[in-house]
Amino acid sequence: MKVLILGASGATGKQVIAQLIKRGINLRIVTRKNAVIPEELCKNNLVEQITGNIADFDSMANKTLINECDAVVFCLGHNISIKGILGKPRLLVYQSLKNVCEAIIQCSSKKIKVILMSTVAYDYKKINEERSLSERIILSILTLLLPPQKDNVWAANYLSGTIGQSNEKVEWIAVRPDSLIDNDDVSPYEVFESIQRNPIFNPGKTSRINVGHFMTELITDNELWGKWKNKMPVVYNKELI
Ligand SMILES: NC(=O)c1ccc[n+]([C@@H]2O[C@H](COP(=O)([O-])OP(=O)(O)OC[C@H]3O[C@@H](n4cnc5c(N)ncnc54)[C@H](OP(=O)(O)O)[C@@H]3O)[C@@H](O)[C@H]2O)c1
Repeated sequence: MKVLILGASGATGKQVIAQLIKRGINLRIVTRKNAVIPEELCKNNLVEQITGNIADFDSMANKTLINECDAVVFCLGHNISIKGILGKPRLLVYQSLKNVCEAIIQCSSKKIKVILMSTVAYDYKKINEERSLSERIILSILTLLLPPQKDNVWAANYLSGTIGQSNEKVEWIAVRPDSLIDNDDVSPYEVFESIQRNPIFNPGKTSRINVGHFMTELITDNELWGKWKNKMPVVYNKELI
């Protein structure tokens, strides 16, 4: 098995790499020229590192990228800076996801699992999530004004709308964590079909390492994949009493 990881140098991407290495899975990671990534991860024998910016990859480059891969994980996101939030590419996640899925659809001979790092701020309309009016209004305003939020919405809409439930080549899961935190170890976490708390007025916590663990479980456990396939599971750290 080989897994392609985009956004591999990100705080969550690194956790996904570490978890997959632990399971002995071959990885292909794409990192920008100046990306910082620990040597023990990128120099691992299981890891093939490709230097470049996924936002600049053309159709041929994307087809080469997915060659021999069984799964693709998107941990891309906009850097928290004025340039990252307001600068180009404004639709980094959506455009990269679309380009890679099109490459899969055009040239893969097998089904490929696609995992998108999404957010609880994405309102998954297909399951009628319970959200207050004020929350819906705020999310709509954020989507209108904040490019990274719009990018997240477009990316998740692409999977649920364009790829849909019965694509011959792409099976997908959009993993939706709440507020991301950093912990050193995997801890108990819970996974739900829908949001359990108000992400604006009463946010929960999700450690990046738990996101990495859940994504790894999805890739390696076919039964779990079947349970969440073409859905948008929400992940929270378990609150220990
Ligand atoms: N913060 C939260 O509480 C929260 C909650 C739920 C979901 N999320 C979503 O999860 C995403 C990932 O979170 P994270 O904390 O792991 O993100 P992160 O550490 O900021 O990682 C972002 C990744 O995207 C890459 N990237 C950024 N701008 C790029 C560009 N212009 N071209 C190509 N690659 C680019 C970065 O590469 P470089 O290393 O080269 O910069 C890095 O690999 C967030 O962006 C957000 O959409 C966040």
